[in-house]
Amino acid sequence: MVSVASPNKVVRPVKTDGSPLYPDYMPFYDPLEKVEDRGPFEHVDPGHRADPAKPNLLKHVTKMFDISPHVGTEIYGAQLSQLSPEGLDELALMAAERGCLVFRDQEFADIGFEAQKKIVSHFGPLHIHGWAPHPVNGPPEHMIIYDHKDDLRVRKSWARKSPIQFHTDQSPEPQTPGTTFICMLESPSGAGGDTIVSSSVRAYQRLSPLFRKRLEGLWAVHSNNDGATTEVKNNGTNAVQRRGVLTNKHPVVIVHPVTKQKALYVNPVYTKRIVGFDEEESDYLLKFLFDHIVRGQDFSCRVRYEPGTVLVWDQRITNHSQTLDYFPGERRHAFRLTPIANKPIPSKIDEDDNECMQEEERAMLNLC
Ligand SMILES: [Fe+2]
Repeated sequence: MVSVASPNKVVRPVKTDGSPLYPDYMPFYDPLEKVEDRGPFEHVDPGHRADPAKPNLLKHVTKMFDISPHVGTEIYGAQLSQLSPEGLDELALMAAERGCLVFRDQEFADIGFEAQKKIVSHFGPLHIHGWAPHPVNGPPEHMIIYDHKDDLRVRKSWARKSPIQFHTDQSPEPQTPGTTFICMLESPSGAGGDTIVSSSVRAYQRLSPLFRKRLEGLWAVHSNNDGATTEVKNNGTNAVQRRGVLTNKHPVVIVHPVTKQKALYVNPVYTKRIVGFDEEESDYLLKFLFDHIVRGQDFSCRVRYEPGTVLVWDQRITNHSQTLDYFPGERRHAFRLTPIANKPIPSKIDEDDNECMQEEERAMLNLC
């Protein structure tokens, strides 16, 4: 292994023969693999137990700064693999407060599959993706992110559309992800391959009070049908269909279980329609909300990866997007561990006055 260095560049280790730095984490696609859906479970968020001063998480921190006012804090000196259960509780709380936390100089990539799973399981049972790859001899919970000239499968799934696609991972699940980890294994040689994280709390707060009020009480349908269809269309008999298509309804405005902050909970990738609205009304409202998120440069931050970077973020109060802005063929290799958390909590109790059912035409067409 050699290191590529110049006076003003981040040192990025590479193998001289061009092979991956982390071969044990290479993606594996098994079209025959099947996984049962996880049933409902009670989720108690670790953030409830946290000391708000975060003495365990922050005791070794040498440097810490906010990346942007509304989302993102970068942290040096804390070692995620060394945190006590109390430190992990505080991590959950801080991720909920700041949306995302960028930990530098971590040993997390080198502690092995089981130790990695044990740490992230602190935040909830780990999700298994419907079609994304896992390591060939590794657990299915390790979702591999891989882009390189020897495997363009994921890049091809973005062909003919913008790679900027804000989303909350797996929002079509009945209980959706919470405190999630991305561990970067190998980055492109120059700049690029960053993750943009957008605050859904601030996205909500930036709307007018009257408009916010209109959104509260609405529900939306989330589905991963498009992604599952693309997987089959692109890969035919080699398509991975580990699980069936997921479709669930969630509140448009949710409350974080620990901070109680309200957040806009729609995203352009998975949110398909507003329940009870006619198609044109739903399309119109969702287009506005999606544009609002994409335009929200003032409530987002850009996370640049360095060797040893681990991104920890709270999916319930953020949307994120890849960038895919580096030269095609360069290697970007990471893994994600995604704990499932609570069923999204509506921002206020939905009082159904049955008005819709009183309209005979709508009731007849099951539009309520
Ligand atoms: Fe994602």
